[in-house]
Amino acid sequence: MALIFGHGRLAIAPPPPPPPPLSPRAENLNRAGQIRRTVLTDRNRTKLNIAPDRDFYAFPRLVTHVDDGFIRELTDVYRQRIPAGSEVLDLMSSWVSHLPPEFSYKRVVGHGLNAQELLKNKRLDDFFVKDLNRDPSLSGIAAESFDAVVCAVSVQYLEQPEKIFAEILRVLRPGGVCIVSFSNRMFYDKAIAAWRDGSDYSRIQLVVQYFQAVAGFTQPEIIKRIPGMVDDSTLISRLLNFWRAPGKDPFYAVISYRNIKPA
Ligand SMILES: C[S@@+](CC[C@H](N)C(=O)[O-])C[C@H]1O[C@@H](n2cnc3c(N)ncnc32)[C@H](O)[C@@H]1O
Repeated sequence: MALIFGHGRLAIAPPPPPPPPLSPRAENLNRAGQIRRTVLTDRNRTKLNIAPDRDFYAFPRLVTHVDDGFIRELTDVYRQRIPAGSEVLDLMSSWVSHLPPEFSYKRVVGHGLNAQELLKNKRLDDFFVKDLNRDPSLSGIAAESFDAVVCAVSVQYLEQPEKIFAEILRVLRPGGVCIVSFSNRMFYDKAIAAWRDGSDYSRIQLVVQYFQAVAGFTQPEIIKRIPGMVDDSTLISRLLNFWRAPGKDPFYAVISYRNIKPA
């Protein structure tokens, strides 16, 4: 309430009208990047190996962590979802980024824990080393500076994924895409309990929930390619699937966009 002096009298002004309600779209933009809910309990975040992650990754591993079939699927998803000319952030990267070799991007920035691996990565224009479990932020990166953020076969090592996904949203431009891929392999002792103790199905759901926990991401899409798998639920198909492609890595990707999926 405001006091107004005028014409020698003291008047009491009526309170200003309340601001008009935000449209659902404006409200969404207003809350963008907020963590709506916590996905993991403290117990879910624990690891069997509690030594610092930097020690675990101190020696370069110049290997591929998944088989050629998985990498082909992943490169194909990148080909379809990340336009040439984009600025790309490869989170939790190493000496390979799996981006399509025929595409040129405006800039590819890598992040990981081992500088020697990142130095060998020919796709990177730049890189930085940071333990995301010690400091779950991308504080050195300006808001809305990337068109795509990718994270390949590594999300299982994040102890505070809600904060990292909020940071991913922050650094993405509106319409930018985040692609998180994984298989059923892991450094078991370094994966969080929720991942270690889960199934392929529950892991997909976990990553879906990481996206859903942050305001501003579109409804996540799931891509599943299970080598040799026939997509019906008859008993005979399920039995056959066991011997069609033994030992091949299943491919899973969960994809979401900041605000909107471009047409
Ligand atoms: C299995 S490798 C995958 C590397 C790469 N994305 C690929 O496709 O080959 C897991 C990566 O996660 C990263 N990483 C693990 N723990 C991390 C942490 N606490 N902070 C940041 N990066 C981490 C490491 O740099 C490591 O290279």
